[in-house]
Amino acid sequence: ESVIMNGELRNRDQCLISFEDRGYQFGDGVYEVIRVYGGRPFLMEEHLHRFKRSADELKIRLAWDEQELALMFNELVAVNEVMDGKIYVQLTRGAAKRDHLFPGQAEPVLIAYTDPASRPLDKMNKGIRVMTVDDIRWLRVDIKSLNLLPNVLVRQQAHDAGADDAIFVRNGIVTEGSSSNVFGVKDGICYTHPAGNLILNGITRQKLLQLAEAHGIACVEQAFTRDQLLEMDEVFISGTISEVTPVIAVDGQPIGNGKPGAITAKFQEALAEAVR
Ligand code: PDD
Repeated sequence: ESVIMNGELRNRDQCLISFEDRGYQFGDGVYEVIRVYGGRPFLMEEHLHRFKRSADELKIRLAWDEQELALMFNELVAVNEVMDGKIYVQLTRGAAKRDHLFPGQAEPVLIAYTDPASRPLDKMNKGIRVMTVDDIRWLRVDIKSLNLLPNVLVRQQAHDAGADDAIFVRNGIVTEGSSSNVFGVKDGICYTHPAGNLILNGITRQKLLQLAEAHGIACVEQAFTRDQLLEMDEVFISGTISEVTPVIAVDGQPIGNGKPGAITAKFQEALAEAVR
């Protein structure tokens, strides 16, 4: 199996990263996860655009433009014969003597590899149960940085409590999931937290907003509270890996009739259509 390291295709076991890499020591880097369906990366341009933006926000130099990256990753998918899978891409500020200050010399390190992945059909059909947790993250989660400690901790916390996932709540307002965005449907209108510094502006989220418009589903970027979340007719999460997954219970309380809803199903169909 091949990986890409700094623009070159290599064997997986010939990809060595320094223990002084700033990604390892400081979480000083950014990443993307891109879905591959039927051998083709889905919404790759959008992901690469966000990747570039994340790198820019952290002032990490990305030595390849989005077109060059797309060519590289298409080649990687072809070489590894990925049909249904994902591409993980990561850029760090590189290896240098440990110092909080940006290093003068370090060469940024770009890594990309592929993994097989199947669609979460079971969860998409049956829905998941989530718990709400305090959003203790920093105020720039719009940057897809490597610092995922809060996300990791709440995911484990949810798992230990018997829930499938965690949904962040900041000052009473629902922001997003541990690795997804959150949508609620009330009286036929779909709500999701506006883009800004308090959520990652999901590529799937953006696609769903476009699809809503195209399919005549009323959808607004308007925040809602945890209390309003519990009163929604339907709730679902969206993400590159979770696609559109219905949420059937929040903190042990059923959402709507406790079954995946009709508008959620519409979004699932619309997204599946967009993949084809
Ligand atoms: N996570 N919000 C957070 C905090 C995320 O980590 C993700 C994705 C999303 C959804 O974004 P998108 O639709 O672009 O995948 C929202 C990726 C998949 C991950 O960390 O594995």
